[in-house]
Amino acid sequence: MKPPTPSTLFPLLLLVVLFLLSFNLGASDTTYDGLVQCLSKRVLPPNQVSKIVYQPTNASFTTVLNDHVRNLRYNTSTTPKPLIIITPLVESHVSAAVVCATALRLHMKIRSGGHDYDGISYVSPNPFIILDMFNLRSIEVNIQDESAWVQTGSTLGELYYRIWEKSKVHAFPAGICPTVGVGGHVSGGGYGNLLRKYGLAVDNLLDARIADARGRILDRRAMGEDLFWAISGGGGASFGIVLAYRVKLVRVPETVTVFRAELYLDEKVNMTDMVHKWQLVAPSTDVDLFMRMLIQPVSSRANNGKKTVRASVLAEFLGPADRLVTILDKDLPELGVKKEICMEMSWIQSVLWWANFDNNTAPTVLLDRTPDSVYFLKRKSDYVQNPITKANLDRLWNKLITLGDSGLVFNAYGGRMSEIPATATPFPHRAGNLYKIQHSINWSEEGPEAEKNYMTQIRESYSFMEPFVSRNPRGAFLNYRDLDIGVTSNGKDSYAEGLVYGLKYFDRNFDRLVKVKTAVDPTNFFRHQQSIPVKLD
Ligand SMILES: Cc1cc2nc3c(=O)[nH]c(=O)nc-3n(C[C@H](O)[C@H](O)[C@H](O)COP(=O)(O)OP(=O)(O)OC[C@H]3O[C@@H](n4cnc5c(N)ncnc54)[C@H](O)[C@@H]3O)c2cc1C
Ligand SMILES: *[C@@H]1O[C@H](CO)[C@@H](O)[C@H](O)[C@H]1NC(C)=O
Ligand SMILES: *[C@@H]1O[C@H](CO)[C@@H](O)[C@H](O)[C@H]1NC(C)=O
Ligand SMILES: *[C@@H]1O[C@H](CO)[C@@H](O)[C@H](O)[C@H]1NC(C)=O
Ligand SMILES: *[C@@H]1O[C@H](CO)[C@@H](O)[C@H](O)[C@H]1NC(C)=O
Ligand SMILES: *[C@@H]1O[C@H](CO)[C@@H](O)[C@H](O)[C@H]1NC(C)=O
Repeated sequence: MKPPTPSTLFPLLLLVVLFLLSFNLGASDTTYDGLVQCLSKRVLPPNQVSKIVYQPTNASFTTVLNDHVRNLRYNTSTTPKPLIIITPLVESHVSAAVVCATALRLHMKIRSGGHDYDGISYVSPNPFIILDMFNLRSIEVNIQDESAWVQTGSTLGELYYRIWEKSKVHAFPAGICPTVGVGGHVSGGGYGNLLRKYGLAVDNLLDARIADARGRILDRRAMGEDLFWAISGGGGASFGIVLAYRVKLVRVPETVTVFRAELYLDEKVNMTDMVHKWQLVAPSTDVDLFMRMLIQPVSSRANNGKKTVRASVLAEFLGPADRLVTILDKDLPELGVKKEICMEMSWIQSVLWWANFDNNTAPTVLLDRTPDSVYFLKRKSDYVQNPITKANLDRLWNKLITLGDSGLVFNAYGGRMSEIPATATPFPHRAGNLYKIQHSINWSEEGPEAEKNYMTQIRESYSFMEPFVSRNPRGAFLNYRDLDIGVTSNGKDSYAEGLVYGLKYFDRNFDRLVKVKTAVDPTNFFRHQQSIPVKLD
């Protein structure tokens, strides 16, 4: 017999390719059919199933997928897409989804608001499906006992709006961007501009409902204090699907005050002196005052667009402008805040102000889940325990100018944050931390060249900061997800892999999280790139 020539091989290869292709398509069809069949036995009424399961051939699959993508880095043609998206309408659908995904060995991702900075709620290197919680968003506010039940598919804006509908002097201490989802934000230990007075969102939790690895729905009493502790800052997605939290509302005055003050490095008032002093004052001043500082390379106003650095201080003060000005005259005169730039308003108006809406926007805009702009972004985090010296701040300014696009956001801690023990919740960064840094970069150009340039910049900013931030471990904030600090393959070495990022996020709380994880999900159904590992010994 003659050996096969290229011309005889080609049709053969084509056949093989076609065969594999049809097998692949068939496989995903089978997955869909199998899932629908399994769910139909568990979802009531069974005809609901076809309304809550999307496969790629469904017309609205792409819309449903993209509706909660908040980082364009994960909206490209090469981004791995889910095999299926399930959108439960009621809690029992969530239980059914866990049971069926387990039976069919499908890897499930959980998504609420989709704001994860590295997209892990909707992207995975391995085949996966998404359980998308956006339909589960009822919010019941009870002003009598100052609490609210919030389903995790809600956004923070929806929660703030529902509180405001019932009371003008109540609030909840959580994040600043209204489109952030409750599910990821609260389970990850979210914070906002009330943190110096009231701590984190997880410092104000009363109860929760979760669907566990067996699909059981458990409240705080049924799940026990260990699991409740774990989902109060350890990230929900390692432990189960959080269905709802019962949160404790906090009190705010009828009038709060906000301002934004900016100093430029190349102008008369000494910016370095102000930033240096801010590090000492912002974490120790009156607890009614929260100050965030944005440090960004910008074009100069004074010197013909030359690159310089700007420090912008944004503040939320739980009281009137007069008192605020008195405090700052004493504590931070270097910032030069005059009453004219202070704006008194209601708490809900301050929510809108922080979200960059102008001051006559109606609060109903908080019910809009779509952010006005989405771009490519990367974030990283650090904790500062000793003030950075003026000489080192000067070096930092030069570095930021050289890099060109990477910025830093300083969020002052202290106050209530220093009173809560580091083990009270999985979030460990309490007393001893002056402020948290977010390294931040945004871009709008598509393609790998741009991505490489901007990612390199922010990673350089992160290396530059190493001598000035916490060490052993170099702390990181779970909600500022950063896959650079370690990932797990969820294989044999998952404990060792998990230790790398786990100590950064949770410090000494990591081991307790591992114990809870091992007890509640020994088969590691709830896993992702940075989940808490199972440790069987
Ligand atoms: C524009 C913007 C502004 C931000 N501002 C702040 C801020 O002010 N303060 C702050 O603390 N953080 C802030 N963050 C970070 C934000 O808190 C986190 O990204 C948070 O995890 C987002 O929650 P999500 O539900 O929107 O995200 P998702 O991407 O849906 O989920 C994030 C993680 O939580 C898991 N998860 C989601 N829902 C559930 C659930 N129901 N049960 C179990 N696991 C679940 C996901 O699987 C994933 O691992 C901001 C992020 C963005 C993009
Ligand atoms: C997806 O497509 C199938 C088959 O056409 C259909 O039965 C199902 O209702 C669709 N699902 C959704 C959620 O629209
Ligand atoms: C994601 O990409 C698709 C296709 O290029 C586009 O239609 C969609 O608007 C993008 N999504 C976002 C949130 O920008
Ligand atoms: C700001 O003050 C520092 C010392 O406090 C000094 O080294 C620096 O030159 C000053 N900068 C300007 C622009 O005056
Ligand atoms: C609203 O904004 C306008 C224009 O910036 C300003 O003049 C006005 O004082 C603001 N009102 C409040 C309540 O802050
Ligand atoms: C990126 O965009 C966010 C939101 O608009 C903004 O808060 C942040 O300062 C930007 N970062 C940089 C470095 O410009």
